[in-house]
Amino acid sequence: MVLVSFLALSCLSLCAVAQNITLLKQALSAHGVATVYATDKNYTTVSRAFNRRFTFSPVAVAFPTSVAQVSAAVAAGAAQNLEVVARSGGHSYIANGLGGNNGALVVDMSKLKTITVRSSNNTAIIETGNRLGDVALALNAFGRAIPHGTCSYVGIGGHSGYGGFGFTSRAWGLTLDTVKSATVVLSNGTIVSASANVNPDLFWAIRGASPSMGIVTSIEVQTFPSPPSAVVFEYSWDDVDITTGSTAISAFQTFAATNLSAEFGAELVFSSGSASGKVNLGWTGAYYGDATKLNGIVAPYLKSLPKPTSTTITPGPYINSVAVLAAPDALNTTTAPDGSDTFYTKSLMTPEESPMSAAAIKAFVTYMAKQGFSSNTDWFVEVELYGGTNSAINAVPPDSTAFAKRDTLFTIQFYASSANGAPPYPAAGLTFLDGMVASILTNSPSSWNYGAYLNYIDNRLTNATNLYYGGHYPRLESIKAAFDPKDIFRFPVGVA
Ligand SMILES: Cc1cc2nc3c(=O)[nH]c(=O)nc-3n(C[C@H](O)[C@H](O)[C@H](O)COP(=O)(O)OP(=O)(O)OC[C@H]3O[C@@H](n4cnc5c(N)ncnc54)[C@H](O)[C@@H]3O)c2cc1C
Ligand SMILES: *[C@@H]1O[C@H](CO)[C@@H](O)[C@H](O)[C@H]1NC(C)=O
Ligand SMILES: *[C@@H]1O[C@H](CO)[C@@H](O)[C@H](O)[C@H]1NC(C)=O
Ligand SMILES: *[C@@H]1O[C@H](CO)[C@@H](O)[C@H](O)[C@H]1NC(C)=O
Ligand SMILES: *[C@@H]1O[C@H](CO)[C@@H](O)[C@H](O)[C@H]1NC(C)=O
Ligand SMILES: *[C@@H]1O[C@H](CO)[C@@H](O)[C@H](O)[C@H]1NC(C)=O
Ligand SMILES: *[C@@H]1O[C@H](CO)[C@@H](O)[C@H](O)[C@H]1NC(C)=O
Ligand SMILES: *[C@@H]1O[C@H](CO)[C@@H](O)[C@H](O)[C@H]1NC(C)=O
Repeated sequence: MVLVSFLALSCLSLCAVAQNITLLKQALSAHGVATVYATDKNYTTVSRAFNRRFTFSPVAVAFPTSVAQVSAAVAAGAAQNLEVVARSGGHSYIANGLGGNNGALVVDMSKLKTITVRSSNNTAIIETGNRLGDVALALNAFGRAIPHGTCSYVGIGGHSGYGGFGFTSRAWGLTLDTVKSATVVLSNGTIVSASANVNPDLFWAIRGASPSMGIVTSIEVQTFPSPPSAVVFEYSWDDVDITTGSTAISAFQTFAATNLSAEFGAELVFSSGSASGKVNLGWTGAYYGDATKLNGIVAPYLKSLPKPTSTTITPGPYINSVAVLAAPDALNTTTAPDGSDTFYTKSLMTPEESPMSAAAIKAFVTYMAKQGFSSNTDWFVEVELYGGTNSAINAVPPDSTAFAKRDTLFTIQFYASSANGAPPYPAAGLTFLDGMVASILTNSPSSWNYGAYLNYIDNRLTNATNLYYGGHYPRLESIKAAFDPKDIFRFPVGVA
């Protein structure tokens, strides 16, 4: 009894003195890790969030140049009981790459940019300081590619840790589905491999929840041949009414259930119309095959809608399709600095076996057409096709990776920026998106098995653990307890 309370007291006092920044500096400097502290003049630059809705003050931002230095940085942070986080591209929607809180040690991966393509088995080893555009260029130089999202500046670290969706995903899966092995720095600084044969639990967990488990310094991915031809399409309709906007969604559900080629990817994009009761509509995507076949593939969908206001069809080589989708950003991210925005995002993954009801679709489109017109935000909604017939995303056995949702038809992204893209963010923007999601949920069955997407991470989400991690959460908790028992890698909406 006495011993127990003595231990408890001494832990309290030890923990209170444990965060000694002098000791942190000594440890990082002993290992030669370049680090920016709050008193350094480039601190403001290196601690700025992509989403300027957030401002966090990390204790320090470390810039390791080797896996050994990543290990030293994690050990130095853990010794002071600091929250430690990796930053790859820094595009987390809630600035978790800065810790999502004040006082973190940020381990910035940007000096680890090697990409090695191995023609023997068409794998590539990608260090996690790389951004998506640079990955696409480097692989394509060898005639290879992996599935990933459209924005060049998104980091491969966060993207592959939580998912990674692009228009090639119906053919090739999510980015995380291509990972065959990884090098991971654990919370105690140990450097390990993870694959189906080595640390298989960790390997499972990093494909869906890597930020909570360790710092992945590189991933070995299975690449695909760059398709010989690809065609990007964009059909748009200005100021459609609620009926037409609703048809666009219901017909997309019907179309997805036809024998749709896996090489076809698409999303619907909604934005504010020029009058209440109207929305602007777009249907965009790509077909990774013979461009002359596109018209035949899209015809059954387009016949359910009026003639588009405008149509843009861009055929060309695969890497051209990646560049067109990333525009106006260049694929090579060394050519211009990263941008920023001030925004809030929510997501909803709809179950394939229970499509959105007509009532839910109508309420959702009505909300966009009415509340969307009067909103003081600059908003858009993307209805991304994950499922449908022949989808590689949903062909992956549900429990073979930590990614929770292999039964998704649509992942819907709800995104609202401040009117000029700069701070401050209007409080009404938060409730505007809450109401938009509610317009769907209140018109759906109470047992609806929907989810949410971690790469569109939302720290205000109710029931987030269930919606993000689903039935995989208990196993993730036990793997977390084994590999990060002191919760060094802690941040909002992580596995605790
Ligand atoms: C403009 C824009 C466009 C986007 N387009 C798409 C899209 O088309 N498809 C899609 O699926 N998503 C898209 N996203 C979402 C994007 O995938 C996520 O924001 C992603 O998590 C960002 O990764 P990052 O490395 O840039 O971010 P970071 O902020 O660096 O990291 C995100 C999270 O991952 C952790 N992390 C980073 N690196 C590592 C590592 N090496 N090891 C372990 N944990 C790590 C961080 O600590 C943090 O918790 C887009 C985002 C933006 C801003
Ligand atoms: C931090 O550690 C240094 C070096 O051991 C020591 O001199 C200093 O007193 C410590 N600071 C605090 C606040 O404990
Ligand atoms: C910080 O700024 C100094 C001086 O401009 C520069 O030499 C150094 O490389 C910068 N450090 C980082 C980590 O950006
Ligand atoms: C690919 O080949 C390399 C050797 O060139 C080997 O080390 C690696 O394990 C192989 N990867 C896979 C996934 O088979
Ligand atoms: C990006 O451009 C830089 C500067 O021109 C060049 O050194 C680098 O190789 C390019 N990267 C890729 C992936 O093509
Ligand atoms: C689906 O389409 C493919 C060609 O894309 C074809 O080979 C296959 O037979 C079709 N399946 C059915 C059930 O029609
Ligand atoms: C949270 O999710 C679980 C599992 O889907 C569900 O049973 C529960 O009702 C949800 N709770 C709330 C408050 O929505
Ligand atoms: C670090 O953690 C791993 C995983 O829990 C463990 O196997 C290893 O022994 C630890 N290393 C040290 C030096 O404590």
